[in-house]
Amino acid sequence: MCGIFGCIIRDGKAVRLITDGLKRLEYRGYDSVGVAIVDEGQLQVRKDAGRLEAVVNELKINDMKGKVGMGHTRWATHGAPNMVNAHPHTDGSGRIALVHNGVIENYMELKEELIEKGHNFVSRTDTEVIPHMIEEEMKSDVGLQVAILRVLRRLRGSYAIVVVTSLDPDHIYCARFESPLVLGVSEKGTYCASDVPAILPYTKKVNYLRNGEMAVLSLEGYEIMKVSDGSHVERGLEEITWSLEMAEKQGYRHFMLKEIYEQPNSLRNGLRLQEQYVNLLTQFLDRGREVYLSAAGTSYHSCVAASYIFSKLSRLTTIPVVSSEFIERYGSNVGIDSIVLSVSQSGETYDTLKAIDHARMRAATVLGITNTVGSTLTRVSRAYIIQQSGPEIGVAATKTFTSQVLVLAQLALRLAKMRGKLSQDEQDELEADMKKIPDWVQMTLDMCSEKTKALAEKYVDDKLFLFLGRGVSSATALEGRLKLLELTYVPALAYPAGESKHGPISVIEDGVACVFICPRSETHSHIIGSIMEMKARGAKILAICEEGDEEIKRLADDYIEMPKGIPDIISPIPYVVPQQLMAYHLAVLKGLDPDKPRNLAKSVTVP
Ligand code: G6P
Repeated sequence: MCGIFGCIIRDGKAVRLITDGLKRLEYRGYDSVGVAIVDEGQLQVRKDAGRLEAVVNELKINDMKGKVGMGHTRWATHGAPNMVNAHPHTDGSGRIALVHNGVIENYMELKEELIEKGHNFVSRTDTEVIPHMIEEEMKSDVGLQVAILRVLRRLRGSYAIVVVTSLDPDHIYCARFESPLVLGVSEKGTYCASDVPAILPYTKKVNYLRNGEMAVLSLEGYEIMKVSDGSHVERGLEEITWSLEMAEKQGYRHFMLKEIYEQPNSLRNGLRLQEQYVNLLTQFLDRGREVYLSAAGTSYHSCVAASYIFSKLSRLTTIPVVSSEFIERYGSNVGIDSIVLSVSQSGETYDTLKAIDHARMRAATVLGITNTVGSTLTRVSRAYIIQQSGPEIGVAATKTFTSQVLVLAQLALRLAKMRGKLSQDEQDELEADMKKIPDWVQMTLDMCSEKTKALAEKYVDDKLFLFLGRGVSSATALEGRLKLLELTYVPALAYPAGESKHGPISVIEDGVACVFICPRSETHSHIIGSIMEMKARGAKILAICEEGDEEIKRLADDYIEMPKGIPDIISPIPYVVPQQLMAYHLAVLKGLDPDKPRNLAKSVTVP
């Protein structure tokens, strides 16, 4: 996710603090760097793609003078990582500079409106519309503060923004909605940043801007107001007791835990996809003679989940396949009528790219879902969607899995609509349910945080785990097993529950841990049957079930309750969360590092 640091200082050069601040935000992940400074009434912007140190040296950024400015490290969400798309972005007059972290959902319509009014755009970002909108509002002589407030009221999506302008060289304007922004004051000056580590060397007392608030920073401090009506907000400071290392993880012990807890937010961004790309991919999917879903690791599990979702919602048969097997298994059948939808967090996985090469050579249509703008997958796909999870630092995928399933589910729903496979009521209900997913995940986190910790203590010495689920939950089981394997190195199996009697049941003996994924579904009675089979053979049953599912709770040795009302078809998203937490806590209890499991790499770019 993008890093932001802005400051107004009494003495010296603001740029020194800015580049230092950006250095402390590097852990967030980024692809380009930019700085804007107001010096002697002139706005100057320097930016480029690359690592912080290289860009700062190359553009002589530290030579910039001036006491007011801001910097940005960009993690691309719209538009490739290059100089033009790097932040800050400016208005047409070059007097208003703005940096942004988040996703502006309605930027296309805002951009069209501005183009009609004569504005020219240079980048492919969603962000660039904002300084142009401010410029447009300034034409009605309302003053900068009112102009920015008016613009903010028109933005849909998530944002933390900071504005520096030669029109008002003594102030910095910043605002947030869903993306974080924190303010601080010291004797030296006033600061804003996307994250505490950037401010920590100057002050430990901070003010977290809340959703829908704007702040105006000056040398004297800051004033906070509500975006909705401009009314003044009074709030005390919070004392930060974290070390710099803890602050990078927002107080969490590991990046993985931070990323698990980020899921309600990453999923909210995953619902903000650009309509035209969702439509485009849907049209291609509709046309295919057959549709392969090709991916590796966790991304493959999101494809397995998606194969159930496409089938149930859109009546589309898809073939999930691990990328390394794609050519051998289906390579000779692929042709001009085939669609290969590749799912890859990094967009750089060797096997996935190899499968794509083969498919392209045989004239198939390649589509992509990835978290990484500018990755090879985006370059070789006919059309692609960015899943908007933000960078994931933990090697084991967590938030990127739930986002991938959400993107795939939205495609399936769109295709179902296009094909007329669902009634209006079913469509409306599912659409409303998709919107509830971030809240259901939040509720899951609230409900199972303590419980998973306690259960991890109970299961820490278990030597073998079996994960079982039916239907779409068999994908949830696969991902639960993978998290456990990756993090704890404990042998584990995962099967569709119905298949368990064709082999896996032979490993069951007294005390073997058997994790059952049991959302409310049409197959509920079958799952109960499977639980009884395993229980009869001495398995220790840990069930993940809906709150108040007394039948399952009675049978299970232990259970984790989930929020009520989650439809089975999208259940992998919330139901994977307790399994992520269990795997995390088990790893910590075993003294292992959950962020860096042995022998694994975040991105496997070799054969
Ligand atoms: C590696 C990572 C996994 C990931 C897999 C596929 O094995 O450790 O977490 O799921 O690669 O990566 P991709 O970037 O293609 O999703």
